[in-house]
Amino acid sequence: MASIRTLSSALGCAVSGIAVGEETSGADLQAVEAALDEHCVVVLPGQTLTPQGFVSFARRFGRPEPHVIDQYHHPAAADILILSNQQHAGRNIGLLDGGSYFHSDYAYLDVPSRCTMLYAIQITQEGVGTTFANLRAAYDDLPAATKARIDPLVCRHHYGNRDDLDETSRTVASVLSDDQKKKMSWVRHPLVRKHPRTGRKALYAVSGSSFGIEGMDDKEGVALLDDLKRHATQPQYLHRYDYQVGDVVIWDNCSLLHAAPLTDMTKPRTLWRITVKDKGPTL
Ligand SMILES: [Fe+2]
Repeated sequence: MASIRTLSSALGCAVSGIAVGEETSGADLQAVEAALDEHCVVVLPGQTLTPQGFVSFARRFGRPEPHVIDQYHHPAAADILILSNQQHAGRNIGLLDGGSYFHSDYAYLDVPSRCTMLYAIQITQEGVGTTFANLRAAYDDLPAATKARIDPLVCRHHYGNRDDLDETSRTVASVLSDDQKKKMSWVRHPLVRKHPRTGRKALYAVSGSSFGIEGMDDKEGVALLDDLKRHATQPQYLHRYDYQVGDVVIWDNCSLLHAAPLTDMTKPRTLWRITVKDKGPTL
């Protein structure tokens, strides 16, 4: 029997009593989806997963899409991206930094991500975790006049971090090879999205891959996005979750921004990530 505990007043819950894998029951899956819709982050502690078990669980939420950074796909399951600061035979076994700036996963794609799932395998540093920002609550708190002004706006997105384009920096978006860069193009998303399942409105990806707003010059568009990012990342909308080994953590990319920590290279850290797509384009 599943039991739910909220993590903070901003967002998030932990659901215990659920076994993640091929065997997860329909009732448990419904409980997790309802918790995700309500709390935007769901932690399922105490899991022991195979790559196949993790992928089959993720597929019940939608279609996983392998990350463009294909050199760190799990060898047994390309849908899994390995995040790690560890090396084997002198080579990194995974992607080192997973987006240390606020962003929404796959907002640089025409069909973005419904949710991201992380499985924590090796965590040896306390006090580091992913910080989430609740864009639904941030939208709800805006003045009515601001909502009316921004509701019809459309943003231009591209792979990258609009605040840091220096490829030698650790806070740039993970650097792509020339071939990987060729797969990226400009896409459009509404600035305010209605959640595909709940219909609730939220700001969408106001940081990270949003480089401008249609109908505004770039400076004006970025200034508005920066204002909204500042609003949405105030302390009352934030929660940092510190992973424990065995956690599966699922977050709603339609309703949140998130920022990963810059990890200490001397403290081993390995997670598996699966990114599940939305059903279709946002416009
Ligand atoms: Fe991310």
